Order: sequence, then structure tokens, then C-alpha cells
Amino acid sequence: MALAPPGLWKRHELFETNSILLLLGTLLVVALGGLIEIVPLFYLKSTIETVEGVRPYTPLELAGRNIYVREGCYLCHSQMIRPLRDEVERYGHFSLAAESLYDHPFQWGSKRTGPDLARVGGKYSDEWHREHLRDPRAVVPGSIMPAYAFLERPLEAEAIADDLVAQRRLGVPYSPAMIARARADLHAQLDPDGPGAAGLQQRYPGAGLHRPGGRGPVSELDALVAYLQVLGTMVDFKLYDAQQNLR
Ligand code: HEC
Repeated sequence: MALAPPGLWKRHELFETNSILLLLGTLLVVALGGLIEIVPLFYLKSTIETVEGVRPYTPLELAGRNIYVREGCYLCHSQMIRPLRDEVERYGHFSLAAESLYDHPFQWGSKRTGPDLARVGGKYSDEWHREHLRDPRAVVPGSIMPAYAFLERPLEAEAIADDLVAQRRLGVPYSPAMIARARADLHAQLDPDGPGAAGLQQRYPGAGLHRPGGRGPVSELDALVAYLQVLGTMVDFKLYDAQQNLR
């Protein structure tokens, strides 16, 4: 069984008997391979395909996301469904890069003490989330998730417009109108019958409207629940998969 012409074995001996030459040869091959893989990426404007439906977070969702990051929810929860059968069957369609397009910082993670949350939006009601965050064991007996009842305190949202400005600097396309109306939009999302809801949904297509949990000022819990409820709901996967099959 001839694996290679005998002459080639002879020439290969040169590398196999000289470690410096082998090292230099290896470096050359790795460098060439690397260049071929990396150089084309510099000529692409973006390596993330745009997917219909992905929009920047509303001010309320962004405020909730800030709390999610502040409380370190990512220490127990990932937000990235891998394209493996067990994950897709448990959590739903695998995550697309575009779904994290406006996540600064991203929340992919590799630690799952609790389940992945990339598609938790719409899985439960707002009331369920509030109850679960206040006292996880009240709804999931045996849960080891900490209680976050203290999040019922008022949300500090004075600086929400600045948050939008900061996100814009990182590349999130918040328009001047979105920034100017940030505080009003934050409240409009919690007032489904109010006059601001239509404008909010025009600026942020598909934004879900919620009712506040308490009678007092907007709470951190209200914002966090709005954030959890939008996770994984922006892309219509029936449409996405159909478009992929047409290609
Ligand atoms: C110490 C680890 C830990 C931390 C920190 C933690 N969780 Fe959890 N979480 C869990 C576990 C375990 C479960 C599964 C049992 C349950 O549903 O309570 C869970 C379940 C959940 C669920 C339900 C998911 C589903 O699909 O049923 C949500 C939503 C959730 N957590 C949100 C949060 C948020 C928001 C935070 C931060 C404020 C947080 N968790 C912090 C461990 C954690």
C-alpha cells in the first residue's frame, strides 16, 4: 500500500530529523492557513448576518438588562442555545449571532446552574416571573435559585437616556428620537392603555406591553420581567427557517 511516492518520504526525512526546520515549517504552514482564514474577514463589513425582527432593547428592557447584569444572573444562567439536539429539544431553536447583536456585554456564558434563558420570553406570564423572582421555591419547589424580593424597590431610571447614548456609542442604532423619548418610553411600556404605547411600538416594533406589579413607582422587578419576556422573541423562526430553505 503506497501512501506517498517514495521520494516524498525521503524529503520528509529532512524535517523529521531536524527539529528547528520542523518548527519553522510548522510555523509557516500555520501562518499561511491563518492568513487564508483571517484576511477575508477584514474585507467584510460585518460577520453577523442581519436577521429580520432583531431590534434594540426598549428603555425598560435595557433597564431590566442592567439589573440582570448587576445581579450576576449570568453566573447561573447562559443565554446561548448550541446547535446540538438535546439543547434544541429542550430550549428551542439554536441561538443566532444576530440575536446578540445589541448585547453589550453579551450574555452567552457556559455555566448553567439554572437553565438557559435565551428563549425564556413568553414561556411564563409576568406574574409567574414576579412570583418566581420574589420567592423561587413558591413556584418551583426544590429550586436552589436565590430570592430577589428586594428588587421590588423603585427603579432608578433618571439616567436611562444616558444608557441609550452609551449603547449607541457601542454601535446600537438608537435614534435621536429614541434617546429623547427614553424616559417617556420606559413608562409607556408599563401603561398598555396609555397614549405613549403606540409611539413606543412604532419605535420598537413588536415591543410587548406590561402592567406594573405594584401600585407605587416602577420597580426594578418590573424592568427585569420586561427584559426576561423579550428574550428570544424577536426573531420569527417559522419565517427564518423558511427563508433559509429557500436559499
Ligand atoms: C445560584 C444560581 C442562580 C442564580 C444566581 C440565578 N438563578 Fe435563575 N434559576 C436557577 C435554577 C437552579 C433554576 C431552575 C429552578 C427554578 O426554576 O427555580 C432557575 C430558574 C430560572 C428561571 C426559569 C427558567 C425556566 O425556563 O424555567 C428564570 C426566568 C430565572 N431563573 C431567572 C433568573 C434571574 C433573572 C436571575 C438574576 C436576578 C437568576 N435567575 C439568578 C439558578 C439561579
